[in-house]
Amino acid sequence: MNLIILGPPGAGKGTQCERLVETFGLVQLSTGDMLRAEVTSGSELGKKAKILIDAGNLVPDDLIIAMISSQIDRPSTENGFILDGFPRTTAQANALHKMLSEKSLKIDHVIQLAVDEEIIVSRLSGRFSCAKCHAGYHDIFKKPNKDGICDKCGAQEFLRRSDDKPETVRSRLRAYREQTAPILPFYDEKGVLKVVDGMGSMEDVYNTVREIILNG
Ligand code: AP5
Repeated sequence: MNLIILGPPGAGKGTQCERLVETFGLVQLSTGDMLRAEVTSGSELGKKAKILIDAGNLVPDDLIIAMISSQIDRPSTENGFILDGFPRTTAQANALHKMLSEKSLKIDHVIQLAVDEEIIVSRLSGRFSCAKCHAGYHDIFKKPNKDGICDKCGAQEFLRRSDDKPETVRSRLRAYREQTAPILPFYDEKGVLKVVDGMGSMEDVYNTVREIILNG
């Protein structure tokens, strides 16, 4: 089972992936996480990416396509994968299609999380994650059970993303509208696009996505 999860920044892609990885044993391939790891490592790619990410712009297609291709080839994806944040442009969607055909793989479902733009700034301004295991939280919608302690690994250090500032979020939304939303008809025509209302609770959204995976 191979999935793509699509939606604007803050739609809940990462949140749903955490649950889907646990339940279905899929590997999450998040281009955003891969880029942030490059930034942390201080690599040349990371230095270039940081400038673009902090401005709310997309990283060039060729860099992203090379990055994801090597990840799909890893043995850990044997049970299936969820592409989170990829593809994001028409060029990436075409490259993915070609790459998967060459590897005799296919995408079973493309899940689009639909969320109103007004709610996104509040979701992202309250987001934080565990510095150690990267579990995701929110100041209002998903607090750790014990204040200041990660539910999953017990760490006491948390991080906030530098691109979650309201002005950067507005640029990210524009990039989504102009460069990512146009790829949705490509998947609709292939009959694999499933639109899920991402405005409900995390649990409701998860149950809908789970139902799609189990029953199509
Ligand atoms: P990336 O890391 O992919 O960010 P994004 O797509 O903007 O998505 P987010 O991670 O911000 O949001 P999400 O949908 O995962 O929401 P989450 O679950 O955390 O990309 C970052 C940057 O990297 C890009 O801007 C670009 O520069 C670059 N990049 C990445 N991929 C690229 C590519 N393919 N090509 C080119 N450039 C690329 O939820 C958000 C918050 O809301 C959380 O706090 C959560 O707890 C809360 N929440 C979630 N669901 C709910 C709910 N149902 N109700 C209430 N609260 C909720």
